[in-house]
Amino acid sequence: MKKTLIIANWKMNPKTTKEANNLFNSVKAGSHRIKKTEVVICPPFIYLPFLKEKGRLKLGGQNGFWEESGAYTGEVSLLMLKKIGAEYVIIGHSERRKYFKETNSEVLKKTKSALSVGLKPIICVDKVSQIPDFSNFRKEEIKNIIIAYEPLFAIGTGKACSPKKAKEKRLLIKHDFVLYGGSVNFKNARDYLLEAGFQGLLVGGASLKAKEFIKIIDSAEKN
Ligand code: PGA
Repeated sequence: MKKTLIIANWKMNPKTTKEANNLFNSVKAGSHRIKKTEVVICPPFIYLPFLKEKGRLKLGGQNGFWEESGAYTGEVSLLMLKKIGAEYVIIGHSERRKYFKETNSEVLKKTKSALSVGLKPIICVDKVSQIPDFSNFRKEEIKNIIIAYEPLFAIGTGKACSPKKAKEKRLLIKHDFVLYGGSVNFKNARDYLLEAGFQGLLVGGASLKAKEFIKIIDSAEKN
C-alpha cells in the first residue's frame, strides 16, 4: 500500500529560524502516531539544515536548479538539496510560473535532474497540458513522480475547488499518484482524499498553523 502523501509548502515563511523550528517541532510532536501517511515539510532552503532531527517527518525543497553546481548566482541545485537531506522537491509551482516565468521546458529539465539525483519531484499543474511528456522516462522513474493538481483560482484564496470538480480533473490526469492543492484546510481535506480520490494533498497556508496541519494529517490517517 502506498502511503497518503501530505506535503507542507511553507512558501517564504516563517520569518525566523526559531519560528521554523517551533513549527516543525509542533508538527513532529503532533504526528507521532502516523502510520498510513507520509508527511513532507518543504521549508525555505535556508531552514533545511536546522530541521535535521526530522524523525518521522520528511523534508522537501520548493524548487531547485538542474545543474549540479557552477556559475548560477542565486540558485540551489537539486543535488545540494538531496545532500542536505531532502527526499522530495516541488517543481513548477504556479507562483514560480507566475513570478519567475518558469516554463514547461524548465519544469522538464528540473524533473529529470531531480530523478537523477534521487529526489521525488512533485510537479504542480493547473492544466493537464502542463504535465511533461514522460514517454522517454523509465518506468521506475515514472513511479517516483508525483503530480499535484492545483487550480489557480484556489491557491491561497480560501476558495477551494469543489471535490466533484477536482475529481473530474483528476480523472483526466493519466498518472498513478496525484495530489490536490489549493485552499486545503482541516474541514475539506478528507473530501479530496475520500470523495475525489486523490492520493494526497499539497497544503500551503494551513501548513503554517501546526494545530490545523495536524488535523489534516489526522484526516489522512483516518482515510
Ligand atoms: P494554499 O496553497 O493551500 O495556501 O492554497 C497551496 C499551494 O500553493 O501549494
